[in-house]
Amino acid sequence: MYIAPSLLSCDFSRFGEEIARMDKAGADYMHLDVMDGHFVPNLTFGAPVLKWVRPFSEKPFDVHLMISEPLRYIDDFAKAGADIITFHVEADSDIDETIAKVRSHGIKVGLVIKPKTPAEAVFPYLEKLDMVLVMSVEPGFGGQSFMADMLPKVTAIREEANRLGLEDFLIEIDGGIGEQNIKQAHDAGVDICVAGTSVFKAEDAEKAIKNLKALCE
Ligand code: DX5
Ligand code: ZN
Repeated sequence: MYIAPSLLSCDFSRFGEEIARMDKAGADYMHLDVMDGHFVPNLTFGAPVLKWVRPFSEKPFDVHLMISEPLRYIDDFAKAGADIITFHVEADSDIDETIAKVRSHGIKVGLVIKPKTPAEAVFPYLEKLDMVLVMSVEPGFGGQSFMADMLPKVTAIREEANRLGLEDFLIEIDGGIGEQNIKQAHDAGVDICVAGTSVFKAEDAEKAIKNLKALCE
């Protein structure tokens, strides 16, 4: 299992150092939550901030756009150093155009589904994607409870990706992941777990990440 600490739970007065700390702690990806106060009822940061923190780790930066018009900002986030950009199927931008825009920068692209959106919503796009991110909480805030009923969606997406012969297709899950549920996520077919609270509230982040991985073995 790959672990992507969500920097949403970090000390933002030390954003860069927090990224470096997660890198040393064994993070596989850095998960960066971008919110516009419109698509979700919360605000975080934009591409200029990403650019400033980019030098603090060489791990891939997984940028989760919770914004209404992702297409308008893809160039900015790609230039600022995103390695993976995911955007919501529920957002307003044209999906095919947005996927193509991300791809034009030679980086990975994924679609995200909110809890009320069925797995089938991403099926028409799977062959154009590297990843699907399944939200296991309503997007907007860290520290919420994991919705176990999202796991059948993971399995359905994995089965469809297999049916299409998509090798190396990644499924990520985001929200409320911790030691109580990571094995369930693994068994459902998840490759990458986002973990905010469970890594940042731990006394020792390295131990927490190791433990989460070990629980999947
Ligand atoms: C929620 C964000 C998540 C969040 C996860 O909208 O997309 O990445 O930070 O935090 P935890 O792990 O605390 O649920
Ligand atoms: Zn996220």
